[in-house]
Amino acid sequence: MLRRVKVLIGVSGGIAAYKVVSLVSSLVQEEAEVRVVMTKNAREFVAPLSFSTLSKHAVFLDDFSNVGTIPHLDLARWADVFVIAPATANIIGKCANGIGDDLLSTIFLAYDGPTIFIPSMNSKMYERATTQKNLSILEDMGCFIVEPDIGRLASGEVGVGRYPDNEVILNEIRRIVVYKPLLRGKRVLVTAGPTREFIDPVRFITNRSSGKMGYEMARTAYMMGGNVKLITGITHLPAPRGMEWKRVVTAEEMFNAVREEIEKTNLLIMTAAVADYRPKEIQKQKIKKDEEHIILTLEKTKDILKELKAVKKDSQIFIGFAAETEEHIENARKKIVEKGLDYIVLNDVSKEEIGFESDENEVVLLDKRGEMIAHIPRKQKIRVAKEILEIISERG
Ligand SMILES: Cc1cc2nc3c(=O)[nH]c(=O)nc-3n(C[C@H](O)[C@H](O)[C@H](O)COP(=O)(O)O)c2cc1C
Repeated sequence: MLRRVKVLIGVSGGIAAYKVVSLVSSLVQEEAEVRVVMTKNAREFVAPLSFSTLSKHAVFLDDFSNVGTIPHLDLARWADVFVIAPATANIIGKCANGIGDDLLSTIFLAYDGPTIFIPSMNSKMYERATTQKNLSILEDMGCFIVEPDIGRLASGEVGVGRYPDNEVILNEIRRIVVYKPLLRGKRVLVTAGPTREFIDPVRFITNRSSGKMGYEMARTAYMMGGNVKLITGITHLPAPRGMEWKRVVTAEEMFNAVREEIEKTNLLIMTAAVADYRPKEIQKQKIKKDEEHIILTLEKTKDILKELKAVKKDSQIFIGFAAETEEHIENARKKIVEKGLDYIVLNDVSKEEIGFESDENEVVLLDKRGEMIAHIPRKQKIRVAKEILEIISERG
């Protein structure tokens, strides 16, 4: 995803400087072009040789000896994105206040592309009013700040200030460089996965949904700058990063969770495969296998989208997903009307190689008039999600 992206890494003198070595390694594995600038103090923590070996390029240090080059301007022109990691309280203060007394802070003065700060320090330093004020100055300037983790710090104390996982930083770089910020400022609610409807304490009815498509929709909405909440049935997928999420079990719980959030939602993406029917009665004890036949009576669950139709505001956009095995387009058109949808994403789950449990999908997108506005051919679900959200957010 980051192939040929030019990433400039600025390393300042914090204890987490050694963790940036593996960040550079991951970037190189993704085929990004990487250059590293280090402050004088950063070199007390890690040797430049680690960075130059991995990035296959000499590290830029404070040095006025290079005749014919102006490194701060050359690097500012070169970079697609500038990541300051770890960002000490000192470098944050200098960047926020226009000080350029070394190469790293001078590049910041000269650079007008996206800059990501990874503050990492002792919690007292992080919580200090001056540090917080400097971070909000940087935010007002349009810089991106990745919040530090809470946990055990180098001093042995537990608090806020820990350098986050490199995966979080990589995601932030991908999000800024690869994805258009089409959903910035929007509240996006995504549902994913199957529901379970209990027959007795140990048995339930469910379906084949793996949750993958919904998780990819949520991840993509987050990458596009959305403020995302994911409501998920039980899946085997790892917890999503960068968003709030809630786990539910039954269709009823899914309905209640969506109902609670809908008021403040701008974009609803209903990817979950919610049960249409549930056992009319849940047996309190495990059913014994005495009988040759047993009859299970099912009753309809609430249709979440139909119920929400009554409270939907004109400014809200609702996207439904339809997994069909026959009469695809006709069934999807019927759902658009019955559920008051703005868009429906239709996939043919009778094809084994796409749809449920698969990593790939092929979908057709219909608008509220039932017109087919896109056919997205078979590809990875994350790429399908990106195309769907780009089309929808560009149409409004
Ligand atoms: C052992 C040690 C660890 C340090 N760790 C941090 C740190 O994690 N975060 C931070 O903001 N400052 C830390 N400092 C303080 C900075 O190194 C100091 O403020 C320095 O002036 C930063 O210089 P620079 O921002 O130019 O790299 C540490 C200092 C020492 C001696």
